[in-house]
Amino acid sequence: MSESLKNPARYTITAALPYTNGPIHIGHLAGVYVPADIYSRYLRLIGKDVAFVCGSDEHGVAISMKAKKEGISPKEVIDKYHTIIKKSFEDFGITFDNYSRTSAEIHHETASEFFKTMYEQGDFIEETTEQLYDPEAHQFLADRFVIGTCPKCGNEEAYGDQCENCGSTLNATDLISPKSTISGAVPTVKETKHWFLPLDRHEAFLKEWILDGHKNDWKPNVYGQCKSWIDDGLKPRAVTRDLDWGIPVPVPGGEGKVLYVWFDAPIGYISSTKEWAAREGKDWEPYWKDENTKLVHFIGKDNIVFHCIIFPSILKAHGGYILPDNVPANEFLNLEGNKLSTSKNWAVWLHEYLIDFPNMQDVLRYTLTANAPESKDNDFTWKDFQARNNNELVAVFGNFINRVVVLSNKYYEGIIPVPNQFSEIDLETLAELKKYPEIISSSIERYRFREAGQELMNLARLGNKYLADEEPWKVIKQDEERVKTIMFVALQIASALAILSEPFLPFTSDKLKQILNNSSSNTASGANWNDVSSKEILIPSGHKIGQAELLFSKVEDETIQAQLDKLQATKKANEMANKEVTPQKDTITFEDFSKLDIRVGTIIEAEKMPKAKKLLVLKVDTGLDVRTIVSGIAESFTPEEVVGKKVTVLVNLAPRALRGVDSEGMILMTENADGKLVFVNPDTEGVSNGETIN
Ligand code: 2FM
Ligand code: ZN
Repeated sequence: MSESLKNPARYTITAALPYTNGPIHIGHLAGVYVPADIYSRYLRLIGKDVAFVCGSDEHGVAISMKAKKEGISPKEVIDKYHTIIKKSFEDFGITFDNYSRTSAEIHHETASEFFKTMYEQGDFIEETTEQLYDPEAHQFLADRFVIGTCPKCGNEEAYGDQCENCGSTLNATDLISPKSTISGAVPTVKETKHWFLPLDRHEAFLKEWILDGHKNDWKPNVYGQCKSWIDDGLKPRAVTRDLDWGIPVPVPGGEGKVLYVWFDAPIGYISSTKEWAAREGKDWEPYWKDENTKLVHFIGKDNIVFHCIIFPSILKAHGGYILPDNVPANEFLNLEGNKLSTSKNWAVWLHEYLIDFPNMQDVLRYTLTANAPESKDNDFTWKDFQARNNNELVAVFGNFINRVVVLSNKYYEGIIPVPNQFSEIDLETLAELKKYPEIISSSIERYRFREAGQELMNLARLGNKYLADEEPWKVIKQDEERVKTIMFVALQIASALAILSEPFLPFTSDKLKQILNNSSSNTASGANWNDVSSKEILIPSGHKIGQAELLFSKVEDETIQAQLDKLQATKKANEMANKEVTPQKDTITFEDFSKLDIRVGTIIEAEKMPKAKKLLVLKVDTGLDVRTIVSGIAESFTPEEVVGKKVTVLVNLAPRALRGVDSEGMILMTENADGKLVFVNPDTEGVSNGETIN
C-alpha cells in the first residue's frame, strides 16, 4: 500500500502552525517555512494546483503561560504575536495561500465537528484517571504547566506532554520529580475524567501504512522515529484537558474542559484550507478528501509523532480524509553552537534581522537553505552567513548578472544582439543550461532543498565560468561579431537564473526579471520552469533589457562582529540571570566575626608560581609587615596587573604551605559577570595599609 503519489491532481501543503507565544526566528524559517515555500513556489512554477496553508496555533498551555508572564490575557497574547508572526512571513516572502488562526470561528467549528463525530462513532475511550494537580494554584497540571525529568533521556526540563530533547511523547504522570511551572509546587494527584484516543487500536494500520508503505520515500529520521514509537507499543492518549483556554469539549460531560492543543492544531490545516477556498470561491474538499491529492506536512522534528501517528489516526478514525503522502521533517538549527531558545532570547528574530539587514531577506533564505538541518542538527553562524553572501551570492550570482547587464548596455545599449555561429563551448553551455530545471526539480521533489539551492548556484557558476573563459571584454577589441554570440548565450543563462531562482530567492528573482525587462511575453509570466529546458530561446535578440542594479552587496566584518557582540551580550545577561546565589552560611556570633583580622594592604611584588596554572606568589604590604601570600588568581590576572593594587587581606589566617611556599594570609576576592576574579576593595582613597575592616 501507499508509496508516494506519482501524478497528483493537486497538492495540499501545510507548514506547522507556530505558537503565538513569541515572534519567530531563523530556526522556524530554516526548519519549516523556507523549505515549504520553496516547494510550493516550485510547484506553482511547474503549473501545479497548490493549496499552501498555515496559521497561528493559539491554544494550549504555551499561550496561557505567556499571558501569565506578561500579565495580560491570552487573547491579548495571541493578537499581539499573530500580527508579528504574520508580518514576518509576509516580509520574508512566504507565499501561503492562506494564513489563518486557530481562534477563528471556522476552526472552532471544524475541530468541534471532528471531536463530536469521533465521539459519536465511539472512537474515544472515556476514563477517570489520576492527573497531576497544583495544590497552590488549584489547577490540573498538563503539558507545559509541568516540567520534570524525562524517563527516557534524563532531560530535566521535559514537559508534561513531550520531551523536546529526545522527542518522546509523555504523560505528565510519567515525569520524574515533576514540578508545577505555575507555582513551583510539587504536584499532588487528583482524579478527573478525560477522553482518550486509543492509539493502540490504530497500531495495525499505522504499521502497514508507515512501516510497510513509506519505508523508502520518507526521510530516515522521520521513518526511524515512527518505527521506534510503533515498536514501543502505542498507548491511549488523552485528547482533552482541564484548562480554561482552548476549544470547549463539545460533548456531554465536557463542561470546563478543552480539547488538547495537539488535537485541534493540525485540524487547523483543514480550517485554513476552508477559509482559503471560501475566499477564492473554490471547493476545499478535494484538497483533503480526494485520493489524488498529495498532502505534504512541513514540520520540525519535535512535531513528528503528532503528524505521523496522532493526526493520521484522527483522520483515519474520523473517516473520509486523505493521509499525508510525506512529512519531510527537519532536524533542529542551532545558533553559534547553542540551541535556539525563545525564553533565553538565544535567537535571530526575523523582525530584528530586517532592521539590521534591510531588504536582505534572500540572503537569509539562501543561507538557511544552504545550511538547512535536513538530516542532522546544524549550526547557523554569522561567519557562514557572511561567507555565503560574499563568496556565493555576491561573487558568483551577483557578479555574473552584473557583468552580463553592464556589458550588454555598454556594447548594445541593452538590446540583445543577434548571435552568429555558435562555437562548441557555446553549444555545450546551452546544453548544460537546459539540464538545470530537471536537476533542481529532482532535488526539490525529493525534499533535498540544500542540494537544490547548490545546484542553482552551480548554474550561476556555469555562467560565471563561461564569461571568464570567453572574455568578451577582451575579444571585443578583435572580433565584435563573436562578442554578440557570447553575450547572447550569457543572457540566456541570466534569464534562466531569473526563472529558476524564484523558489529560493524570490526578491532577487523579481528584481532580475525587472532588470532583464522580462515581464513581457518572452519570459517571466510567459516562460515557466520547464521552458528553460524546452524553449530554444529564453530571451530573444532585439529585446531591450534595463540598467544594472546590484543584486547583492558585501557584508563587512564589522557588521558580523556587531551580531556576534549582540549574542555575547545575551549570553552574559542569561548567565547573570541564572547565576545561583550561594545559600547563606550558618549564623555566627559577633565574637566569631571579631576573630577575623581583615586589613587593607598593597601588593608590592608578584610572580607566577612555577608549574601552577592558578597561583601567583605575592608580596603584600599589610601595614604590619611585608609578607608572602599565595593566591589562586593567576587565571584572572598577570603578575604585572596586580602590582600596586590595594587589596583586602585576612591577615590572621593560620599560615599554610602551598607548593612549598608558606602563605601567610588570604586576599579577599569575588567574581564579576564574566566569571573573572576581582578584588574586594575598600574605597581606598586615603586609606592606609594596615587599616582594619570591621
Ligand atoms: O511546535 C509547535 O510550534 C506547534 N505549534 C506546531 C503545531 S503544528 C500543527 F499541527 F498545527
Ligand atoms: Zn527525553
